[in-house]
Amino acid sequence: MPAIHARRILVTSALPYANGHIHLGHLVEYVQTDIFVRFQKLCGNRAIYLCADDTHGTAIMIRAKAEGRSEQDLISTMRAAHLADFAGFEIEFDHYGSTDSPANRRLCGDVWQALRDRGLVVSRPVEQLFDPQAGVFLADRFVRGGCPKCGAADQYGDSCEQCGATYGPADLVQPRSTLSGATPEVRSAEHLFVTIESLHDFLATWVRSSGALDAPVANYLAGHFLCDPLRDWDVSRPAPYFGFEIPDAPGHYWYVWFDAPIGYLAATDEWCTKHGEAFADWWHRDQATAVPAEIHHFIGKDITYFHTLFWPAMLEAANLALPTKVRIHGFLTVDGQKMSKSRGTFLLARTYLAHLDPAALRYYYASKLSGGIDDIDLNLAEFAAKVNSDLVGKVVNLASRTARWLEKTGLAAVYPDDGGLFARAAADGAEIAAAYEACDFARAMRVIMLAADRANAYVDAEQPWKLAKAGPEAAGKLQDVATVALNLFRQLAVYLAPVLPKLARDTGALVGGPIQSWAESQTPLCGTAVGPFSPLMQRVDSTQIEALLAASRAANEAPPTGEPAMETPAPSPTTGGDSGVALAAEPLAPTCTIDDFAKIDLRVARIVAAEEVPDAKKLLKLTVSLGGDTTRTVFAGIKGFHEPAALVGRLVVVVANLAPRQMKFGSSEGMVVAASGAGAAGVYLLSPDSGALPGMRLH
Ligand code: MSP
Ligand code: ZN
Repeated sequence: MPAIHARRILVTSALPYANGHIHLGHLVEYVQTDIFVRFQKLCGNRAIYLCADDTHGTAIMIRAKAEGRSEQDLISTMRAAHLADFAGFEIEFDHYGSTDSPANRRLCGDVWQALRDRGLVVSRPVEQLFDPQAGVFLADRFVRGGCPKCGAADQYGDSCEQCGATYGPADLVQPRSTLSGATPEVRSAEHLFVTIESLHDFLATWVRSSGALDAPVANYLAGHFLCDPLRDWDVSRPAPYFGFEIPDAPGHYWYVWFDAPIGYLAATDEWCTKHGEAFADWWHRDQATAVPAEIHHFIGKDITYFHTLFWPAMLEAANLALPTKVRIHGFLTVDGQKMSKSRGTFLLARTYLAHLDPAALRYYYASKLSGGIDDIDLNLAEFAAKVNSDLVGKVVNLASRTARWLEKTGLAAVYPDDGGLFARAAADGAEIAAAYEACDFARAMRVIMLAADRANAYVDAEQPWKLAKAGPEAAGKLQDVATVALNLFRQLAVYLAPVLPKLARDTGALVGGPIQSWAESQTPLCGTAVGPFSPLMQRVDSTQIEALLAASRAANEAPPTGEPAMETPAPSPTTGGDSGVALAAEPLAPTCTIDDFAKIDLRVARIVAAEEVPDAKKLLKLTVSLGGDTTRTVFAGIKGFHEPAALVGRLVVVVANLAPRQMKFGSSEGMVVAASGAGAAGVYLLSPDSGALPGMRLH
């Protein structure tokens, strides 16, 4: 396949927010992008898949504050969680950065300077609600109060759930901050704006004729935005804000949506540094390379405006390369409805992985994605049926029905007459490749499954199991039939490799070595050894799906991700609660020696799993990691004070050498240290300062 004129393709997915876990909705995008990139690599193109965590903004700042930790600590925990989830689904980035990086800060400065130089930045005051107690400006969702229209109590700052009215947070009756409960004040602050209207003509032309956007998207933008003057874009926030301070506007920070897309540039820059490549060869308009780089952004439809108007405007102002393609997908629904926490259909990646095979979801999504902007539905019954019938029943079955007869002999030395089956499926390769290229994975999967049907019909007709019983004189025929079937199987595995990387690896181990190129679908193997067969994929069982839904329901009893976990009242002023009641109620224990203390091995540990214990009023079952592979199961009496899902990822202190204790629910292998006592109801877990690592001993 092409090597000399291989395409150079920079591919991105939208940067996931660092304030929540990856869910199956996100995965529509990351799986789709990963399939596209793997396909390009398999074809011999030079593709790099870049992404990063989107770390800045008010939500992170407030959540970090509520959890009593630094923003850096919070985002590094989330980063580890995101990377684990992505790895679990075989999403393979070439580089995964963070918007909170030095490269991003520098590149934000460069783009900013370009906007300034072109006179595109203006400043004017903006009125916003301010929480005088928490000392922050409030985004709409952090204000609640009475609906100004129908009077319903306790509504959000932007719309009423009772009557559907929409309004501004300042219109609420008796508004209060959800952070502190204080009454917000209207305050005015200077904000910086980018006047993108001056790039209107450029954007209108780019949207219409660059080829980057599908016609429906271009029409939508033309009909909704480009028909009117473009509104100035508010790109700054006054302190306090978690983000980058604007160098020429001290006390003002770039709004998260300013620095987030620049994260694509920063990720490229970091990848280039790692690989000795030049940033200019990917993002500059005049590239010294033989083949100009293509830039493909994969995004969801909710962030269309940012990627099709703001982002090209910024790139144009900075004289950088424009996207070759912005590929926009729809939203995931589960059983026809929006993902819902109460129905248990808000499905987190990690919860899925605990119950089901990632390959099943990758295949199901591939079979649903056709490159358009329509929403896609995860119908759980259809999901099971499709995976079982297509992957297990048609594809894997081909190998499981035939491979074992070749374990001793290997494939036949000459490829037998198969009635043209291999050649026919090889000819399908062009259509399958075109469908992958267009991100019409659904079509690719249909063509592949038709080939699988023909292959199975061949096996059914030849009945190798009868040949196997027929004795030595049928051995040659048996080897031929199995050789054909296994070659047809491997051909399918090559076609499916972008979607099912593990199946491709396992197939390579079974016969023919690692699948490395699309061209391997075009020639059958002969005379090759065949390894021992082990099951390639399991059926999806309805009990697994039920368990997934039950676990999701439990996990979702935690506060919604992205909103502050306000389990405890706002911290009292430094000395307010220091009345001495707690000490008085439980006086100090008798003196002990340092040797007594040394007997107790206290360690920093990370909570890696937390679940409710049915029937136990006070207990949560925690799995804590002491680093490496060392984990402990601990039952902790903290139920009701901590939501299990919110605990996962945080550091705690455990008594690591406590004798195991058999409890009704299982063996408890240690103790998580927590404070409680008179003065305040509750159980308070201890957290080390940020920087501490699991396994560190407390001295
Ligand atoms: N941080 C921004 C993107 C910045 S890009 C410079 C963001 N993050 S997100 O975590 O909310 O979403 C990441 C991607 O996942 C987005 O493209 C979004 O459209 C997609 N999805 C999030 N929920 C989704 C579904 N339920 N269904 C399909 N895609 C979804 O937006
Ligand atoms: Zn109302």
